[in-house]
Amino acid sequence: MTARLALSLAFAACALAQTPPPAQPIPFSHKQHAGTLKLACKMCHQAAGAGERMAYPATSTCMQCHSAIAADKPDIQKLAAFAKDQKPVPWAPVYRIPSYVDFSHKTHLAAGAECENCHGPVATRDVLSREGDISMGGCMNCHRQRKVSIDCTFCHEDMQQEQ
Ligand code: HEC
Ligand code: HEC
Ligand code: HEC
Ligand code: HEC
Ligand code: HEC
Repeated sequence: MTARLALSLAFAACALAQTPPPAQPIPFSHKQHAGTLKLACKMCHQAAGAGERMAYPATSTCMQCHSAIAADKPDIQKLAAFAKDQKPVPWAPVYRIPSYVDFSHKTHLAAGAECENCHGPVATRDVLSREGDISMGGCMNCHRQRKVSIDCTFCHEDMQQEQ
């Protein structure tokens, strides 16, 4: 079990390093918006539903500025077309964990974890790729440091404890 786990973790680490950024429908820059313009993360991302997920911004949030700013640019016209149809922009996911892992943004943020702990220096990036460590090892490192449980069933509720 230990060897198999170590192997799969090594594999996960490789896969992580090679993950290219996904193609996005509109080239949105965090460096521009969260860096230069200093917009707060929570202007665009709030814990959604029960708090497991963070929401993506509504197109109307973008249009607060872009009905006027850079309105003649092709990418902004693309954005305006989504807004006119009242459609969300179909952003491609960057960070995903499998459904057999329990994770909640809400509890982590309440416990003082910061976006950068898991997502890296977002406000300095034009394009987001998966650079933050959300592998099992990454989760466990912080749990060990902060004396939070690393019992298998803590993160895998449905897993039978192996002896
Ligand atoms: C303790 C680690 C951790 C912290 C802290 C954290 N995230 Fe996440 N984030 C994750 C994980 C893990 C996922 C993938 C969740 C999934 O697939 O269910 C994720 C996914 C996301 C997503 C995609 C939508 C979703 O929820 O799946 C957004 C947007 C996001 N995070 C934004 C933020 C922002 C903004 C902050 C700070 C306010 C933040 N995150 C803090 C670990 C974290
Ligand atoms: C608080 C105002 C504000 C908000 C909200 C905002 N932006 Fe921007 N955005 C700007 C400014 C300012 C620029 C720089 C414009 C320039 O250089 O002419 C910009 C630039 C851009 C550009 C580059 C345009 C180009 O081709 O030069 C894109 C694309 C963009 N924003 C998309 C978005 C999206 C998508 C959202 C919502 C998720 C959003 N913006 C929300 C102010 C905002
Ligand atoms: C003006 C709106 C806006 C602001 C402000 C903003 N974001 Fe985002 N964020 C977006 C949009 C749009 C996307 C989807 C496109 C992308 O991945 O770049 C996104 C995607 C993300 C993702 C990847 C989600 C996934 O699919 O896994 C993370 C993580 C994230 N943002 C974190 C942050 C953090 C941390 C901050 C503050 C430092 C922040 N964002 C500020 C609009 C915003
Ligand atoms: C930056 C440090 C940090 C990272 C990284 C981290 N955690 Fe946590 N986690 C905590 C802390 C602190 C608590 C305790 C929260 C509390 O007691 O309310 C916690 C609690 C939890 C809980 C129990 C509370 C709940 O939300 O149900 C689960 C499950 C959990 N973490 C899963 C994960 C997973 C899965 C990952 C990796 C994707 C992860 N954690 C990454 C710090 C972290
Ligand atoms: C702090 C949270 C956390 C704890 C504790 C935890 N895991 Fe995980 N586990 C994860 C995450 C996150 C993933 C998904 C990693 C990924 O996306 O590749 C995962 C994935 C796995 C996988 C699939 C690996 C693969 O490569 O397909 C197995 C098997 C696993 N865990 C077993 C365990 C066992 C056994 C324990 C107890 C020793 C344990 N986990 C404890 C968070 C945790």
